[in-house]
Amino acid sequence: VILTQDELKKIAAYKAVEYVESGMVLGLGTGSTAKHAVDRIGELLRQGKLKNIVGIPTSKKTHEQAVSLGIPLSDLDSYPVVDLAIDGADEVDPCLNLVKGRGGSLLREKMVEGACKKFIVIVDESKMVEYVGGSGLAMPVEIIPFCWKFTASRLKKLFEDSGCVAKLRTFGEKDEPFVTDNGNYIVDLYFKKSIGDLKAASDAILQLAGVVEHGMFIDMATTVIVAGELGITVKNK
Ligand code: A5P
Repeated sequence: VILTQDELKKIAAYKAVEYVESGMVLGLGTGSTAKHAVDRIGELLRQGKLKNIVGIPTSKKTHEQAVSLGIPLSDLDSYPVVDLAIDGADEVDPCLNLVKGRGGSLLREKMVEGACKKFIVIVDESKMVEYVGGSGLAMPVEIIPFCWKFTASRLKKLFEDSGCVAKLRTFGEKDEPFVTDNGNYIVDLYFKKSIGDLKAASDAILQLAGVVEHGMFIDMATTVIVAGELGITVKNK
């Protein structure tokens, strides 16, 4: 049997939910993989197999989904320490560094997942890469809308040696700017060559005024669950 990518996502998500225990404060991720985990948590609550869960959603979309499933919700103001977060990723490297944010929720994800004792990342095997930022796909940066062209060109300049292209994320036929849950824009960076040291790249990006956050999640994941045709692999930090 050949499984679809969505079936693999679901397998990884269900495996991660096995780590959830009653009474936990849970970071609820965003995206097509995390959606399966949130559905499963809702199902186990409904069946009475999980109790006293408090969910901390990482986006408005996940907030809506959790409300529709009857999952009790709160936020980091009330629960500054989160027991466990489960979320997807766009890229995962062999050291468990991630790129996230192709769905646009990187800022809230980084806030919630940075406050977690344990952070389980769930992916299908297509997300595994040798080094993050090297897959030719977008590395998202959330920026404030004010003079976004200026900020985009400064981002591009930072990574000139890596052949960086910076594109404002847009949607719809009219190519309107995509606006995040926080009212910001996203610039997607594309690299022709490796960006080298991730921590140095992260520091350089965050130093630019106008930048709010970027999608590299360095040294944050504690476990990655990969679902592939040959089964599930669990990688621990
Ligand atoms: C949302 O902004 C992202 O960080 C997602 O968590 C990530 O893009 C993975 O999404 P999928 O599970 O839909 O691939």
